[in-house]
Amino acid sequence: MKPTAAPTAVLALPAFLPRAAANAAANDAAPADELRAGLYLPRATVSPKFLYDRLGSALFTAITELPEYYPTRTEAAIFSAQAADIAAFLRPALPASYALVDLGAGDGAKAARLFPALQPAHYVAVDISEDYLQQALAALQRQFPALRMTGVGLDFAQHLRLPAGLLQGPSLVFYPGSSIGNFSPEAALRLLRQAHGLADGGGLLIGADLLKTPAVLEAAYDDELGVTAAFNLNLLRHLNACIGSDFSVRDWRHVALFNATESRIEMHLEARRALQVQWPGGGREFAAGERIHTESSHKWAPGDFEALLRDAGWRQPRRWTDGAGWFGVFAARA
Ligand code: AVI
Repeated sequence: MKPTAAPTAVLALPAFLPRAAANAAANDAAPADELRAGLYLPRATVSPKFLYDRLGSALFTAITELPEYYPTRTEAAIFSAQAADIAAFLRPALPASYALVDLGAGDGAKAARLFPALQPAHYVAVDISEDYLQQALAALQRQFPALRMTGVGLDFAQHLRLPAGLLQGPSLVFYPGSSIGNFSPEAALRLLRQAHGLADGGGLLIGADLLKTPAVLEAAYDDELGVTAAFNLNLLRHLNACIGSDFSVRDWRHVALFNATESRIEMHLEARRALQVQWPGGGREFAAGERIHTESSHKWAPGDFEALLRDAGWRQPRRWTDGAGWFGVFAARA
């Protein structure tokens, strides 16, 4: 057998800051308390972050492959067609050596495709899912051995604050995928203000889904194969695992509707019959047709999204869209 060769070069290892360290100052409600409180509301509500257990995350990845779900591929096409233009706008606002802070980094693939154009010196990947992030960063570091990488486990929906000293000088905050749409308008404004503070005179690159006909929007969130329905219904199993409840998936159905007043797609779970759900220490009744609100996904007129960026302190917003004007990539200076 051939002896194992000694490594010729030592690969850089990404640094990793687990959630306990990064969130030391945050005052997070325990997930089980948060879930029970939402279920007791007259209009029961569960935060969309609970959609993403292991199976939920896999189902979301499948959603991004569906013909009806246009946001992921439309954003990717804009990034690939406009990377040089985006870089030409953002680079003058950034020092030669700067950090790209990727919010909700996942596997880091979206940011990695932009590394050649944006040329960051430090990649800071922030995600709530620590194990996944750590593995993904190790793989990415092998692809980009010269780029300094740091992973931060953080639920930034609660509070976007990175460990002191991690960023030095102006940075670029990257928040693709239109995940900003899953926040209420007030929470989105708060997050964008916090991102502005983090950028410290640098820039922002963010994806936002745009208003279009309700039929297109509703099909994107209620696809023919039922993948989005499975994604939504899987939340009930996650709830059972988190609080020991006895939700039965078969008693519920997926509902996706466009709420024109709020300019958002809403996902709900609707009880198929009158039923009772129990969990240790509590429970509640649901009438037939009663719903649990599980997600909102806001859609913007382009000018309204630019106004939101300005309200959060960002300057000179620029926008790139696809030919149909379905999705917007926005950049701004801090
Ligand atoms: C993650 N987020 C931007 C998705 C969206 O479109 O709001 C989540 C999603 N929900 C159903 N389909 C996709």
